Amino acid sequence: DSVAGEGVWRYAPALPVDDGVTIEEGNTPLYEAPSIEAAVDVADLRIKHEGMNPTGSFKDRGMTVGVRVAERIGVGRLACASTGNTSAALSAYGARANKETLVLLPEGNVAAGKLAQASLHGATMLEVEGNFDDCLDIVSELADRGEVYLLNSLNPFRLEGQKTIGLEIIEQFRDQTGSLPDRIVLPVGNAGNTAALHKAFRELVAAGAIEEAEVPTLTGVQAAGAAPMVEAIENGWDSVTRWEDVETRATAIRIGEPVNAPKAIPAIRQTGGTAVAVEDEEITAAQRELAQDGIGVEPASAASVAGLRKLREAGEITADEQVVCLTTGHLLKDPDAAAEAGNDPTTVPNDVDAVLDAAGD
Ligand code: F0G
Repeated sequence: DSVAGEGVWRYAPALPVDDGVTIEEGNTPLYEAPSIEAAVDVADLRIKHEGMNPTGSFKDRGMTVGVRVAERIGVGRLACASTGNTSAALSAYGARANKETLVLLPEGNVAAGKLAQASLHGATMLEVEGNFDDCLDIVSELADRGEVYLLNSLNPFRLEGQKTIGLEIIEQFRDQTGSLPDRIVLPVGNAGNTAALHKAFRELVAAGAIEEAEVPTLTGVQAAGAAPMVEAIENGWDSVTRWEDVETRATAIRIGEPVNAPKAIPAIRQTGGTAVAVEDEEITAAQRELAQDGIGVEPASAASVAGLRKLREAGEITADEQVVCLTTGHLLKDPDAAAEAGNDPTTVPNDVDAVLDAAGD
């Protein structure tokens, strides 16, 4: 089950292993979003929809590399702490590699689709009476004790795989428009993607593939109820202070201590970027806007578009910019959030005229 040369593995020379445990991850679409582009008023807007990966999030790009490395090392049990998507991806890739998989989840704060995935792929699921950060503390200690192999974004091999998001954006944007994006706006939880994209672009500069000045400005978005990175960037700090109490409807990014902040803070600063916090209502509005362009995403993903809108309204993003928003997970990950954001069905009698009546003219 090793296919070199497709999707993520098209970039094998940029990765630490030649091939992966693969379910054909990567090669996700870069969509136009004409109504949002017009409404927000930027020169160009594309949506890099990572929800189109095999398990419905960008995590697959990391797992195809990380689980292969785990196989090579010959570890026993794979494990992660997760707000849901990492557990879904690890469960699928672990199953594919015939490895035992343990996932620690914050009780009551993981979306239904993600739980269903970990469940069906056969992971051992433990719901911890705590939040994501508590889960990560525990699984890190288990890894230190040699009980498990850690596949959170603290694992550098996972972030190597996630670099391919940046490599695809550069290629697809250039194919579609003839130029490179000025800015990439992305949701921030543990800030793994922020770090991974920056590494990808620095490697492209080092290889002479793009100019230093062409590196897109990295712009991070957090939910207002879980925004330690925004706090650090706004205050000019070099590290984050853990938020003990976090709350947001975007459960994927309900995180109080972004573990990749030491890499992500310089990534944002060096590219001239910023970080912004958005309210849950703004996230839901952006989720609806994306849906109106036919693009179905989970709440955390819509944070990118909500952040773009907010920074554009504040004048920090200008009308001449070419922007890519990263949408990290699929709508079906969180069906409850989608149902809340969308229309309600109407019950009608089993009758043609009644149906026509209820459907309106
Ligand atoms: N968007 C989604 C849909 C996510 O699932 C995550 C992280 C992020 C954004 C944040 O990405 O960490 O690179 O800044 N989810 C992790 C998980 C925490 O357990 O599934 P990041």
